[in-house]
Amino acid sequence: MNPLKHLGALAFLLFWLLAVTGVVLYVVLDTSAQGAYRSIDELSREPWSFGSALRGLHRYGADAFVFVSLAHLAREWLLGRYSNFRRFSWLTGVPLLPLAFVCGIGGFWLNWDRLGQFSAIATAEWLDALPFLASPLARNFLSGAVNDRLFSLFVFVHLGVPLLLVFGLWFHIQRISRAEVFPPRALALGTAAALLALALALPIRSQGPADLAAVPGTLAIDWFLLFIHPLTGATSAGFVWALLAATIIGLFALPFLRPRAVQPVAQVDPGNCSGCGRCADDCPYGAVTMVPHPNGRPGALLASVRADLCASCAICVGACPSSTPFRKAEPLVTGIDMPQWPIDDLRRRLLDGLAAMNTEQRLVVFGCDHGARVRAAAGPDVLPFSLVCAGMLPPSFVEYALRAGADGVLITGCRDGGCEFRLGQRWTAQRLLGQREPHLRSTVSAERWNTVWADGGDEAAVRTALDSLRRRAGPALPSATLEARA
Ligand code: HEM
Repeated sequence: MNPLKHLGALAFLLFWLLAVTGVVLYVVLDTSAQGAYRSIDELSREPWSFGSALRGLHRYGADAFVFVSLAHLAREWLLGRYSNFRRFSWLTGVPLLPLAFVCGIGGFWLNWDRLGQFSAIATAEWLDALPFLASPLARNFLSGAVNDRLFSLFVFVHLGVPLLLVFGLWFHIQRISRAEVFPPRALALGTAAALLALALALPIRSQGPADLAAVPGTLAIDWFLLFIHPLTGATSAGFVWALLAATIIGLFALPFLRPRAVQPVAQVDPGNCSGCGRCADDCPYGAVTMVPHPNGRPGALLASVRADLCASCAICVGACPSSTPFRKAEPLVTGIDMPQWPIDDLRRRLLDGLAAMNTEQRLVVFGCDHGARVRAAAGPDVLPFSLVCAGMLPPSFVEYALRAGADGVLITGCRDGGCEFRLGQRWTAQRLLGQREPHLRSTVSAERWNTVWADGGDEAAVRTALDSLRRRAGPALPSATLEARA
């Protein structure tokens, strides 16, 4: 339920809320220059009415959309999620912000009250600062009244730009498999309820009809959407243009300025790939596709990895049925593997590590590099493994570890919704619960394994889960057995 982990999905929700309330507003409002003010004023004059709620939802929804989108950008930036395989999402995200602002600012003009008048003229004057406009746009406002043609342009800006946004949003999530475009239901309902409460408690009121013969005096500004006008007033149009250009160029340049160290990408072994497609299904970034197998057998498929999309998360390794450690193969070569952390290495280290342990109880922890630090949480009776992502773990490794002498196995990774690679935690949980292939066999005693989803810094949660596993795993084995194992 942490909204910070669902900012993209919340922005989507707000966008659709704006679209729905916008369509209803469009149906009930008069969108001519003469009738606009009266119709919207009448609609929202009654507090606690449907019209008031509708207008408030639309306005506060617009503020929230911009705020949440900015927070989404800030979060991705702070987490360093803008380069390499995320470059496409970042670059397609940048244009969405100016579009959102254009759309939001244009909405104020449609009310055609004093605030709309102020914003329309301030925008025209700001655009006039550009050297290439033949005649000043602000001149349109000198004639004493705005004509219907100009008002149609306002309508176009406010309706046309959202269509561009729809296209932009679709593009933005193109390279993300199963993008989360709807937040958890409780969060969605809570957000909608909060906006509705705000709309009813603090209804949006028009600020008097536009009058081009007068300069609006005191205005209640919407600081989220209209901050650009006071900023231009306090500085200059040229300064704000330069600031905007620098911000946009900076955002576009960011992924190229500080690309992260490139990790080796997943590699397919045609001899061990059965063509089942589970890796393609589970890949969070659509980097794996199935292509005809070069052996030419009719219907035979082979996984193929697009290096520029691969996040090196190894979730595909956990999805591959050939990754099971029970195979006799020496070394264990699977259908798809990470050169920097081969599955054979994991099996070998597991066996060697268990054999070297001399404690009464022996526990194994499979964790991930981005969640709670398993090595920090582990005691002498624990054999810790920090994988690239919890999703790298083939579930059969749990049973294998138990059969190889472990008394209990703990699987940990980033908290739900916080997986560094988006889907690793979800797939791991589902595979362990038998809801996704490949799954952990139900014959494995549930007393002897456990999961805990904990972010970095929450090592205490791992320690608590280990304590509980120690108790559940039962009394320690006789020391004769332990000596035999050693
Ligand atoms: C304007 C509205 C925006 C919406 C509605 C939106 C929505 C989304 C959604 C739904 C996802 C997928 C989240 C997931 O399933 O994990 C996503 C991912 C992403 N977005 Fe946005 N986004 C917006 C703007 C932006 C902006 C302005 C940027 C940055 C310039 C940005 C950067 C990213 C990045 C880098 C990812 C990939 C995250 C990852 O791979 O883990 N987005 N966005």
